[in-house]
Amino acid sequence: MKILVIGGTGLVGSYLLPRLVEKNYEVFVLTRSENKIEKIKKSGAHSIIGDIREPEFFKYVLPERLDIIVLLAMPSVKPGQRMTKRRKAELREETNDFFRNTMELAIHYNIPVILPGGTSYKTEKNETADETWPIYRIGLTEIGMDTDEMVNNAIKANNPKIVQLIYGRIYGNGGLFRFMYNMMEKGRFRIIGKSDNFLPNIYAGDAAGAIIKAIEKLPIGEKFIIADDSPVTQKDFVIYMAQVMNKKRPGHIPGFIIKMVLGKDFYEVLRTNCRVSNSKAKKILDWYPEYPSYKQGLEKTIREIKEKNSD
Ligand SMILES: NC(=O)c1ccc[n+]([C@@H]2O[C@H](COP(=O)([O-])OP(=O)(O)OC[C@H]3O[C@@H](n4cnc5c(N)ncnc54)[C@H](OP(=O)(O)O)[C@@H]3O)[C@@H](O)[C@H]2O)c1
Repeated sequence: MKILVIGGTGLVGSYLLPRLVEKNYEVFVLTRSENKIEKIKKSGAHSIIGDIREPEFFKYVLPERLDIIVLLAMPSVKPGQRMTKRRKAELREETNDFFRNTMELAIHYNIPVILPGGTSYKTEKNETADETWPIYRIGLTEIGMDTDEMVNNAIKANNPKIVQLIYGRIYGNGGLFRFMYNMMEKGRFRIIGKSDNFLPNIYAGDAAGAIIKAIEKLPIGEKFIIADDSPVTQKDFVIYMAQVMNKKRPGHIPGFIIKMVLGKDFYEVLRTNCRVSNSKAKKILDWYPEYPSYKQGLEKTIREIKEKNSD
């Protein structure tokens, strides 16, 4: 079975590729960077140089037949950088291109596609959102507004055939979590405001596991929340992270300062309260997180980073 992974060199991709290869799938990874060819080769996958925003430049080197496409690409948002209106509009355009072009490729090959999403739900107190809840787009998450519509239209038309995995915040050895880790290591990490709101989390290896289940089961037209079993506030997540790293509990920084420095788009996302249920993924995909609690997941991730650093 031939799988094209768009965005396979990122955080989730680094956990996904070796697992797909181990399962004997033939994996093709699109990357914009020649520097990543060696790493892709090491994982046992093939690399294809190209940008999903310009499919005309790489389409001709794709295999004649593909069986499934997995989209994991994400436009780059530099941590610590102010989000301007202009940058936000660019990110929205970029995200739209990623989804549109990926879906067009799936239509061209007449194959299913596994698309990503984020758990942008707004819950009160002890409410728990599931896949039937409306997506709540505020601040930075507004960049996904058009893609929500694209996905829903495609599901209605059954063209292309879609499975959507709606991830909580993904943590693992890479991506934004590495930035958090480095800040914590230097004693520069701060808890923003009260941070007493809940946000769902998922260990990157478990996010990769859900993709494999989605490939195996292919419940076309379905959306699944992929988050762990243990709701936690942002503050408690960070405090536990500091504890596992043997660091002092980080101090607080007032929310209004973050709002001033990074812009309200970041701030609004960080303040949203969101608790979710992963029951549908368990029931239909038969997916169970190996790290159902952020505590076990953080311990594992920090061990992974330390091992990598001592290589
Ligand atoms: N991380 C989270 O907390 C989170 C939460 C919810 C949903 N998600 C979704 O989950 C997916 C995986 O996230 P992640 O954290 O693994 O992402 P990531 O680490 O940021 O990786 C981003 C990937 O996107 C690729 N990419 C960016 N622009 C591209 C372009 N124009 N053409 C082709 N590839 C491009 C990069 O590949 P090259 O640089 O090699 O080209 C890289 O492999 C994303 O779709 C994201 O939206 C993530």
